[in-house]
Formats: sequence, C-alpha cells, structure tokens
Amino acid sequence: MKIYAAKDYADLSRKAANIISAQVIMKPNAVLGLATGSTPVGAYKQLIEWYNKGDIDFSQTFSINLDEYQGLSGEHDQSYRYFMNHNLFHHINIKIENTNVPNGLAEDAATECLRYNNIIKTLGGIDLQLLGIGGNGHIGFNEPGSAFEKETHLVTLTDQTRQSNARFFSSIDEVPTHAFTMGIKSIMSAKKVLLLATGNAKAQALYDSFFGPVTPGVPASILQLHNDCIVIADEAALSLIREKTGWESVTYDN
Ligand code: GLP
Repeated sequence: MKIYAAKDYADLSRKAANIISAQVIMKPNAVLGLATGSTPVGAYKQLIEWYNKGDIDFSQTFSINLDEYQGLSGEHDQSYRYFMNHNLFHHINIKIENTNVPNGLAEDAATECLRYNNIIKTLGGIDLQLLGIGGNGHIGFNEPGSAFEKETHLVTLTDQTRQSNARFFSSIDEVPTHAFTMGIKSIMSAKKVLLLATGNAKAQALYDSFFGPVTPGVPASILQLHNDCIVIADEAALSLIREKTGWESVTYDN
C-alpha cells in the first residue's frame, strides 16, 4: 500500500487523473472500475479536460461502476448511472455501450447480481478500480459487517450512509433503502486499486482502514491485503494518521 499526500483537492484530483490516464494510455482497452460520490468529481473533470485537449482517448475503454441505488432508474438525477453520464461519459469518447452500472430497476435482484458478475468476468476483470470511502469505512456500498467473500449483491443501507447521502435528495425519505454493490471480493480482484479521500470526515475511516486491524467492521481495511493499492488523500483526511503514526513525509510506503 502506498499513501500519497495531496496539497489540496485540485492536487488530489490531478494525481488521480494522472494514474487513470496512464492506465488508459498503457492499455487503451482497459477496464476501469469507477466510483460515484463527490470525491472523484475533480478527477473526472481533469480527465475531461485532457480528453478535450486530445491527450487521452477512451474509444476502446470499458467501465464498470461499483454500485447503484435499487429502485432508481438511470434517468433519475440521483441515480449513479445519471451521475456517471453527466460527470464523465457524456463528455468523453467512451462508447456508452461499453459502460456498465447495475440496473436499479432490475425486477429480480439475484439475476441482476449474476448478470453484473458475468460482465466483470467477460471483460477479463478490472484493471484499475477507483474508490471513495464512506465515513464508516464503507467501499462501494459494502457497509461494516459485509462478508469479504461477496461478489455483487443487494445491501440494506445503514442509517449513517442514508443520512450522509440525504444531502443529494429533497428529504431523507427519498433516499433509497437498498443498493446493488460490487462486493469486496470483486473489488479485491481488481489488478490495481486507487482510493481517494478528502476532508476531516474521512480521517477516522482512513486511519482505521490502513492502520487498524483488517476486519469486516471496517470494510476498506481489507485493502491492506491488496498488493497494488494506492491511496491519495488531502491533509484533513490524513490528520489522524499523521497524529497517531508520526508520519511526516508526502509518501508512505509499507
Ligand atoms: C457513497 C458511495 C461510495 C462513496 C461514498 C463517499 O456511499 N456508494 O462509493 O465512496 O458515498 O462519498 P463522497 O465521495 O461523496 O464522500
């Protein structure tokens, strides 16, 4: 695991976009595992800028997203399909048929999970998985207590996650109670993992995930066992790690 300190959000976003674009340059038909949330938006903006300059070509690239709310259609402005279309896909030359997000309206959840797992297998696995992190250490929608060995499955969202995502909806009652998410097993199978974290609200989760025990109570802690995991975080998110470990430089390599 490598942790890189970013000066600020712009620096974090540029560093992340550099790693993603290097992946696409080295393997134009790469399979990118993508994430939603506010954290990766800056990286997506940076990729769009470089695409517009002609520096990066997504025409052969595939994507597979981590998660989707159950019950929302792709046209709902809080669905993750809508988020990806508007924050990235519609602004670059990735073929929309090469992008994958779970279908929030799937009639049968088990069939949808199977379909999604098969997509990952058919694509030959994920080359680079981008991740944010929840304040409780969740990745995708794998909430504390999730079994590490799961692939795509339907989860019941915790109150904490629904509360923190309520800011995007007009009321908490509108926040879906369930979501489809790739499981920890799917995430751990990615060849490379890139986790981004900003702000004080992530400091505890970041410390627990990378300096605490590996436990399902902190889903991201499993990433300590991934052999190519990169974390980029700003100083606010790193504050507790700095305080508790005495780490002072800009890169940490275990
Ligand atoms: C949601 C998503 C996660 C994301 C998390 C943090 O719960 N399912 O994939 O990492 O929010 O979001 P943010 O980046 O907005 O803090």
